[in-house]
Amino acid sequence: MSQEQWSEVDDYLTSLLHDPDASLDRANEAALAARLPPIQVSAPLGKLLHLMAKMIGARRILEVGTLGGYSATWLGRALPPEGKLLTLEIDPTHAEVARKNIDAAGVGNSVEVRLGRAIDTLAALATEGVEPFDFVFIDADKPSNADYFAWALDHTHAGSVIVVDNTVQAGTVADPSATDDQTLGVRRLFDLIRDEPRVTATTIQTVGTKGYDGFTVALVL
Ligand code: SAH
Ligand code: DHB
Ligand code: MG
Repeated sequence: MSQEQWSEVDDYLTSLLHDPDASLDRANEAALAARLPPIQVSAPLGKLLHLMAKMIGARRILEVGTLGGYSATWLGRALPPEGKLLTLEIDPTHAEVARKNIDAAGVGNSVEVRLGRAIDTLAALATEGVEPFDFVFIDADKPSNADYFAWALDHTHAGSVIVVDNTVQAGTVADPSATDDQTLGVRRLFDLIRDEPRVTATTIQTVGTKGYDGFTVALVL
């Protein structure tokens, strides 16, 4: 199996199972034109996030790591009319591209992009007494995954879903000799989940347009 084949199958599945969506394609084109790194979720994972949010009837969604607003558009599309998505981004250029893409996709009224270091924004939200979220998607700086996850546990409710992207990456997590920051970050997240009675989770390995990786899905108990 090769990267070429994984991409071909992703494209085939997307063309068969997804409705054509020009604004999602345009969002990726605008992000590329603005020289954002092409690290948004794949189309199938974007749709899975959308489906999971719909399955639980999510009305309040938090995203950590906006980039150009691709996954935010998928999640924004899952919301009922009165629903809200708050998405956090550290890079002003990314936030600006995202704002435009999200507005152009027609979900602008439901989505707030908040600029800043996510850990600071989350601390401010806690101080403001933010209402709990139904669905959280964590997809920013990987070494902070456990910190974002711990925050999410304190600001969700029984039945909320927390998804963390890129929790397999190069597959080094099970190799004790791998001690790079990314791997340590993933292990810290898994240790937290293991020791945390408020949550139950699994991790799925994936291949596709973005190569070999995986994501974690957690249910708040
Ligand atoms: N969820 C997006 C992809 C996010 S890529 C999608 O699938 O469409 C990761 C993003 O996290 C980048 O835009 C990066 O600038 C942002 N990021 C990195 N560190 C961050 C931090 N400390 N706080 C907030 N955002 C951060
Ligand atoms: C990469 C992929 C991601 O999904 C992400 O959120 C950050 C980085 C990458 O391939 O480098
Ligand atoms: Mg990611």
